[in-house]
Amino acid sequence: MALPGRKRCLLVLPGQRPTMQPCLLLALALLGTASARHLAAVTSEVAEPELEAEAEDVECPLEDETKALNITDPQSARTFRYIIVRRCQNFHTAQRVCSRCYRGRLASIHSYHANVLLQCRARTRVNNGRVWIGAITRPVGGSVFCHWSDNSGWNYAYWLHGYPLLTGRFCTTLCTANGRWRSTNCRERLPFICEY
Ligand SMILES: *[C@@H]1O[C@H](CO)[C@@H](O)[C@H](O)[C@H]1NC(C)=O
Repeated sequence: MALPGRKRCLLVLPGQRPTMQPCLLLALALLGTASARHLAAVTSEVAEPELEAEAEDVECPLEDETKALNITDPQSARTFRYIIVRRCQNFHTAQRVCSRCYRGRLASIHSYHANVLLQCRARTRVNNGRVWIGAITRPVGGSVFCHWSDNSGWNYAYWLHGYPLLTGRFCTTLCTANGRWRSTNCRERLPFICEY
């Protein structure tokens, strides 16, 4: 199976070698295991200390603010359940909504197939142009380390050219016009996609 995402994400600047972080090794070890996604529901190493401080009790979205869809991966035949939420939240609060209201996490995306279906569905539900997905990136040496907040394996990516950014730690949005991903300040308030 080709894993273009991993290569894409690890941007290496000339003269520098990427370092393999323990987290990356863990992600690779989990890659392909059926339970990887659900492990993540329990723990996340994504704690954002500054954002944690402003966390308040979340209010669950109303039904007409959400759209559910199930996507069956043609290769693995596994079905993933997603819910698109129109109400805008910062990344951390969105994560709490996914967890509290749907017992899930912000969505991880593992195929072009799922990316396209989520993009198309999100496009009809939100007009902001971008929605949170569960990818988080941070610079490591001269490259970027990417991981999913549900700790599932990093095996696919669909970055806009020039992304992910190397300049700091970022959350990630999916553009509903073309499906491409870009680094986004975690504090922006945007619609989001949960998986559960
Ligand atoms: C998704 O699948 C679950 C069962 O796994 C079902 O209960 C639910 O209604 C389905 N949702 C949609 C939108 O098809």
